[in-house]
Amino acid sequence: MSIIAAPGRAFTLALHGGTPVVSPSIPIVSVTISEEDIQAAVAVMRSGMLAQGKNCLALEEKFAKASDAKFALTCANGTCALQLAYEPLFEPGDEVLVPAWSYIATVSMVVARGGIPIFVDADPETYNIDVNDAAKKVTSKTTAIAATHLYGNPVNIDGVESLAAKHGLSIIYDAAQAHLATYRGKGIGAYGDITTYSFYATKNMTTGEGGLVSTNDEELFKELKLLRSHGETQKYIHGRVGYNYRMTDLEAAIGLSQFNRLPDYTARRQKGAAAIDRAIAAIPGLFAPKITPNARGVYHLYPVRVDESKFRLPAEGTVRDEFCKALNAEGISTAVHYPRSLTRQPAFEKHVREHPPVADRLSKTLFCVPIHHNLTELQTRQIGEALHKVADAMRA
Ligand SMILES: Cc1ncc(COP(=O)(O)O)c(C=O)c1O
Repeated sequence: MSIIAAPGRAFTLALHGGTPVVSPSIPIVSVTISEEDIQAAVAVMRSGMLAQGKNCLALEEKFAKASDAKFALTCANGTCALQLAYEPLFEPGDEVLVPAWSYIATVSMVVARGGIPIFVDADPETYNIDVNDAAKKVTSKTTAIAATHLYGNPVNIDGVESLAAKHGLSIIYDAAQAHLATYRGKGIGAYGDITTYSFYATKNMTTGEGGLVSTNDEELFKELKLLRSHGETQKYIHGRVGYNYRMTDLEAAIGLSQFNRLPDYTARRQKGAAAIDRAIAAIPGLFAPKITPNARGVYHLYPVRVDESKFRLPAEGTVRDEFCKALNAEGISTAVHYPRSLTRQPAFEKHVREHPPVADRLSKTLFCVPIHHNLTELQTRQIGEALHKVADAMRA
């Protein structure tokens, strides 16, 4: 039985009074706090030892191993993971190549460190940093590149590494959305100087708020450890200025319990994404995300790109906005990651020299459909069906 709407067949959109594809709506994210997670948290509470402790150590060891990194350190969130990572790798006043298309923290922490962000455009198909554009923006002041494995899709690591080797740049990978992603068969933790993660509530695994930095360099590891905890070399002796960016053992216990399910959850995301890929391949004017060659993505998000020229322009707003409205009425939740390029953020106004065109276009043509470990096969089919239905109704 075909569950995909036949092209050309007249369907009234739910937006215009038709029957929705699914009700109640499929949520855009799904967070599971299992009985094991709860018991792990309760055990820490009963122990009375709430601050950083053995659960943090265990999570660091497991996470490093699973992502092919030698060392890992838990920390309070993905933003301070970036702050920790940037401090040893570039100096105030240095130019740092950053993606124009990412979450704010990748760049705001460069600015917080006193670095000068040099915005690099996005690849039009993978949405990650465009290494060719990055190469054009290197100057004698450039000392580092920060690249985000956006939506769970690893960046072109070969390209980033050869650019960095040519110009002697440090490499920071922001993997807040890419837990357990791989490149050339190895965990992404095997690459670059430092990789950072977030365990925010809606990430592929969560500790509520939380983060982690990993590295393969023992000296960097020691420095990160000092920075994480007030530069403390012995009790109340502080060798350098640092922060309190420690994770609590309560959070780490939840994280360890979540981590046990992460491989299964990741496989479920990948399977769901493959089903949505197949549906989109049959819809002219819509594009599935292209995974970087030699990489395995983990689909933190599933961005759909719309070719505006193939659809009727709405009286107001963008074709993308109209897709979101129509899909929401069909029972498919949507989200926009992100509504503007980072060069359009008021926070970065004084650092912007130009607005990279691909990032600007993505801010008007991408929308995310649900992807998570609790998506059923039926739901992935309903997402495909709704995309077909809306695209057919909106086609120019
Ligand atoms: C790409 C990226 N970098 C950094 C962060 C910051 O992580 P946190 O929210 O844990 O501070 C996020 C969180 O959404 C993110 O998506």
